[in-house]
Amino acid sequence: MGKSIFAVALGTSLAMNGSRVALVDLDLGAANLHTYLGIIRRTPSIADFILKKASSLEDILVGTSQENLKLISGAEFVPGMANPAHGMKLKIMRHVKALPTDYVIIDLGAGVHFNTLDFFGMSDRGIVVTAPEPGAVMNAYSFIKGAFFRKMQNVFRKHGEIGQVIDAETRKTGSDSAFTLEKMTALIRRMSPEMLPLINEIEQVFSPVLVINKIAWGEKHVLVQNLIALCREKLGLAVEHAGNLPDIPEIGGYLLRIPDFLQSREGKPYLHSVKNITKTIMNPAGNAEETEIKKEFTDEDIEAISSLMESLDNSVFSGTGRETWKLRMFFKPAEVVSYLISRGVTHAAFYK
Ligand SMILES: Nc1ncnc2c1ncn2[C@@H]1O[C@H](COP(=O)(O)OP(=O)(O)O)[C@@H](O)[C@H]1O
Ligand SMILES: [Mg+2]
Repeated sequence: MGKSIFAVALGTSLAMNGSRVALVDLDLGAANLHTYLGIIRRTPSIADFILKKASSLEDILVGTSQENLKLISGAEFVPGMANPAHGMKLKIMRHVKALPTDYVIIDLGAGVHFNTLDFFGMSDRGIVVTAPEPGAVMNAYSFIKGAFFRKMQNVFRKHGEIGQVIDAETRKTGSDSAFTLEKMTALIRRMSPEMLPLINEIEQVFSPVLVINKIAWGEKHVLVQNLIALCREKLGLAVEHAGNLPDIPEIGGYLLRIPDFLQSREGKPYLHSVKNITKTIMNPAGNAEETEIKKEFTDEDIEAISSLMESLDNSVFSGTGRETWKLRMFFKPAEVVSYLISRGVTHAAFYK
């Protein structure tokens, strides 16, 4: 809970600093971003694009009360567009990424609907907002797992063998499922090594961050730590905790004008948190405790890192004059790990 308000606040905060921002409401079932911006008149919406009444997303951008902040409004529920075909989702994302702005912030619905998983997987940086409560945290885990599998399915769908393995894995339940990136990589190396660059790419681009709503800044809730551990152990994903948002009951008085809330006295701590979260997200190396890099490596870690190196496409090493064999010959794990992270390659064995 708190996704849409956070999306509006993040966009407003970036726009206040002079960046051009587009907010895009892709909660196709229950769009409400416009209301948080006080836009209640009828405006063009994403429905016009999906139903091909507008040919460009720029035509449906509407201004808001905040300078530099524009909105692509979600639509009221239209049965014909709540489940766009995959090709239409790709088209939407293509157009979204071509918008002439500095940032695009996409708001998605709750749950593990394919629309949500697909848009999340196609974005450059996924942010998962959750409350620090058992049910909500489990939902966040299911969501990350769902988005990760969906991403792999989308990529390997057409690959007979690998596609089948992923499909079989998506049907497993509970404890018998621990399908990590590491296992996936090993499997692909065996079945179809020419596909390894793809899995490496997924590993590089799929790095969701967590934002915990209604909890004091700096608090490291045990459930959140469990969630991060679960993602690492069961999925092999390094999920970063980007920060928390304070619980501010007075927000209720500002639901039609979130930008005003951020400028108000009551909204100050919320805005402050949004700015801190922005800093963490913009700096992918992060400094969250959960992703602190190891200095000491066990034999097992070293083995895992070695086999990761084997699996890497040479493009990871290109343009640096440092080739794989050099890194292998002078094997200093800490150096190799920081090098790989600098090239966007991560692995559970790198972190404490
Ligand atoms: N940090 C917060 N402090 C207090 N109330 C909040 C906070 N974040 C969200 N809420 C409440 O939760 C409601 C739903 O928020 P919203 O952002 O629309 O959630 P979502 O998009 O995840 O469904 C809001 O109407 C607001 O009252
Ligand atoms: Mg919402």
